Amino acid sequence: MKILMVCLGNICRSPLAQGILEHKLKERNLDWKVDSAGTGGWHSGEKPDKRSISIAKKYGIDISKQQARKLNGYDLENFDILYAMDASNLQDIKKLAQSKEELAKIRMILNESYPNENKIVPDPYYNDSGFEEVYQMLDKACEQIIINLTKEHEAN
Ligand code: 4NP
Repeated sequence: MKILMVCLGNICRSPLAQGILEHKLKERNLDWKVDSAGTGGWHSGEKPDKRSISIAKKYGIDISKQQARKLNGYDLENFDILYAMDASNLQDIKKLAQSKEELAKIRMILNESYPNENKIVPDPYYNDSGFEEVYQMLDKACEQIIINLTKEHEAN
């Protein structure tokens, strides 16, 4: 399974989502590939935002080695599932899809924990107190991703 977490800047939300899912997969000895990217390239090459690094560290996860990169068309070929954090990410990812198969790979991440509700992970960039909430939302979603994808895989 190859999973790509996508947000706008690839410095706040998606690096956390990547770190949390990688951590859970390691605990379960699951060999899935996880990466993250941003629909915008302003922060390419940078480490995650220090507030994301800090909230991850609080829960025993090191995301400080990650490097931001911009989402590209190959990501839709290479990954099995691309998770958007909000509706605007979803639209931007869809613009890069070149087939129905690629479109079908794109999901809202919180639909794993709250099916069909299209809830969003709020952008915490301008809100210092938003990082704990974002962490909790992503933690719950990642827990459910493992359960749901394992079931989907068995059903196919
Ligand atoms: P992210 O947050 O999409 O969760 O990484 C943002 C980070 C930077 C910007 C926007 C959102 N920015 O406009 O620079």
